[in-house]
Amino acid sequence: MSSILVTGIGELTTNVAAQARPDDHRDPTGMLGLVDDAAVVLEGSTIAWVGRASDAPAADTVCDAGGRAVIPGYVDSHSHLVFSGDRAQEFAARMTGEPYSAGGIRTTVAATRAATDEQLTSHVARLVAEMRAQGTTSLEIKSGYGLSVHDEARSLAVARQFTEDTTFLGAHVVPAGTTPEDYVDLVTGPMLTAAAPHARWIDVFCEDGAFDVDQARAILAAGTDNGLRGRLHANQLTYGGGVKLAAELGLVAVDHCTYLADDDVSALADSGTIATLLPGVEFSTRHPYPDARKLIDAGVQVAIASDCNPGSCFTSSMALCIALAVREMRMSPAEALHAATAMGAQALDRDDVGVIAPGKRADLVLLEAPSYLHLAYRPGVPLVAGVWQGGRPVVPGS
Ligand code: NIG
Ligand code: FE
Repeated sequence: MSSILVTGIGELTTNVAAQARPDDHRDPTGMLGLVDDAAVVLEGSTIAWVGRASDAPAADTVCDAGGRAVIPGYVDSHSHLVFSGDRAQEFAARMTGEPYSAGGIRTTVAATRAATDEQLTSHVARLVAEMRAQGTTSLEIKSGYGLSVHDEARSLAVARQFTEDTTFLGAHVVPAGTTPEDYVDLVTGPMLTAAAPHARWIDVFCEDGAFDVDQARAILAAGTDNGLRGRLHANQLTYGGGVKLAAELGLVAVDHCTYLADDDVSALADSGTIATLLPGVEFSTRHPYPDARKLIDAGVQVAIASDCNPGSCFTSSMALCIALAVREMRMSPAEALHAATAMGAQALDRDDVGVIAPGKRADLVLLEAPSYLHLAYRPGVPLVAGVWQGGRPVVPGS
């Protein structure tokens, strides 16, 4: 097995918690486990050694980071990449005053059903490559633009070519031509049977205009009976019972969490369910940003993901999400990076990624910057100088 020594790292984020250093604005609580003048040894697909460059062992090849920063690859725990078509005009209408509506999903459903498997696969491949070039090395992909037995199953089969973390979201909206009752029967019956072999997770869009709490409860229960684990889209557009349902069921994560009442916040803190915030959605729908500071101060675990999809948020940039989280959601830069890496991994119940430590998957991002702080300090600037995924250099520069 060949080894690579990445040395000359000016600032390494490990996500292995270290002692607090209140005077160091980069990481006052120690959550990022920063190591200055660091090195990492990659052996095959995993990390073999992490420490000070002056102590590093020899390896087959050497890569000099030249004093630049290295962070763990982003773990994007929420995306809807299997789709066809474009809704840029809907975005333009929103920017001139139209509200976002869940009904727009049906436009993408029509285009997705009309696409071939090959067209869907090459479209996902293009988006995954776009993400990787920006430092995302693990991701989750949902179905949800098929909404028929055949189209949901094939959407998940396409997604499975790119990640183990595939999520069955047949309960995205009720498609035209059916009643909510009949559609829930389909989702919990034949559609689930066809989808389950290709999925790890099951999700429901619990919202006015989509599925209510009772329907979400029934769909998640059916998924669990078929070996899938639950997650939920909740409280994105309105206040409601979705977040409390996720907490009551002890789901690993509940996503969006934009409209939260005080008892939603305490339910999340008590249950340990991770609130995955998706600031690109608020950017792109002009809804108010969730207050991450309030959540964190109440003891809620917070992750950040892109929600890359053609309707509510068509960004694949985790760096943009970090910048928005810092500027608009009152997260510290350290909290935001941690939320986009280690917490993303926890939101997918993955212990092999999101951390730079021996035995973990060798997913590293080399930044064209002396510190990870530049991710929010230099918003919109492409700062990825190299990416290793499973020990392989996948972006020039690594
Ligand atoms: O996560 N909320 C539901 N689903 C997507 C948006 C889907 C769409 O508008 O196409 C989301 O925001
Ligand atoms: Fe989503």
